[in-house]
Amino acid sequence: DWVMGDYIAEAVEHIRQQVGDDEVILGLSGGVDSSVAAALIHRAIGDQLTCVFVDHGLLRLNEGDMVMEMFARNLGVKVIRVDAANTFMSQLAGVADPEAKRKIIGKEFVEIFQAESGKIQNAKWLAQGTIYPDVIESAGKGKKGAHTIKSHHNVGGLPEDMHLKLLEPLRELFKDEVRELGVALGLPREMVYRHPFPGPGLGVRILGEVKAEFASLLQRADAIFIDELRSNFDEISGKSWYDLTSQAFAVFLPVKSVGVMGDGRTYEYVVALRAVQTQDFMTAHWAHLPHELLGKVSNRIINEVRGINRVVYDISGKPPATIEWE
Ligand code: XMP
Repeated sequence: DWVMGDYIAEAVEHIRQQVGDDEVILGLSGGVDSSVAAALIHRAIGDQLTCVFVDHGLLRLNEGDMVMEMFARNLGVKVIRVDAANTFMSQLAGVADPEAKRKIIGKEFVEIFQAESGKIQNAKWLAQGTIYPDVIESAGKGKKGAHTIKSHHNVGGLPEDMHLKLLEPLRELFKDEVRELGVALGLPREMVYRHPFPGPGLGVRILGEVKAEFASLLQRADAIFIDELRSNFDEISGKSWYDLTSQAFAVFLPVKSVGVMGDGRTYEYVVALRAVQTQDFMTAHWAHLPHELLGKVSNRIINEVRGINRVVYDISGKPPATIEWE
C-alpha cells in the first residue's frame, strides 16, 4: 500500500545518505530480521552490500539452498555462502552440555563471520537486522538481579573489534511491521511469516552431543512435521495449523527404543514433536493439535525417516519447561 511505499522510499533515501559510497557487510542468517534488512539495504545501495551467510550445518532442511535461491538468484543480492558444517561439527564433538554447545556455536560463528568479512575490501559498515524489541531488551540487560536462563545468541552479533559503523535500518520497527516491510520488498510471504528459529539452530534441538547423522535425521523429521502443519487446516477458523501455532519443531532424542517393522525388530532413535502457542515467548501453552494430525505426522516420520522408530508429543507448558529443550 502507499503508506508502506512511502516508508520504503524514505528508508532507502536515509540509507543512501548514511552510507554514501561505502561498502556494507551484513550477516545473513535466513531469519526474518536479517533477511528484511538485507532486502531493504539492497534496494537502497545494490552491490555496495555484501551479505555473508554462515551455514553451520544446523539449519532446517534445505535452508541454505533456499537462502541462496531467494537472495542471490531472485533478488540479485551479493551473498557469500560459507559452508562451515564440518568446522562446527568438529568443534562440537564430544560436547554434551547445552550452555557449552551454545558458547561454542556462538564463538565459532563470530570467528567465521569476522574472517569472511575481513576479506571484503573497504567495508565501513556492518548492517544488522536489529528491531525495536531488541533495542529495548538490550537496554534492560546487565541490570542487577537479571540472570540468564539460556545464553541467547543471535547470528550476526557485532564483533566489537571489527571497527565498523553500525547500520540498523529496522531499529524503530516492531516485528509485524518488519514482516509487512519484507512482503512489500518482495520477500515471499511464507518466509516472512515463519516461526522463529534459534541462532544455535538444531544444535539445541539435538539433545546432548551433536552429530551430523543426528542432524540429518532431525532435519527430515522436522520438515515432515512442518509440511503437515502447513497443509492441514482447522475447520473452524480455516487457518493452517502452522499459522495457529507460534512455534513448532522436532527435537532429536539420542535414546534408542525397540520397535517392529515388517517381520523385524528395530532399535532406533526417538523424535519429540513440540508445538506451542504464545504471545511473547516468555510463557507458552502446548498446542492442542488434532490427534489425526499428530498420527499422520508420526506415521510419516517413522515410515520416511529410517533411523527413527518412535515419535512422542511434548505436553509441557512454559513455565516450567522452556520452549526449546536445551
Ligand atoms: P525458550 O527455550 O527459552 O525459548 O523458551 C524462547 C524463544 O527463544 C528462542 N531461542 C533463541 N533465539 N537465539 C535465538 O535467536 C538463541 O540462542 C535462542 N534460544 C532460544 C526459542 O526458539 C523461542 O522462540
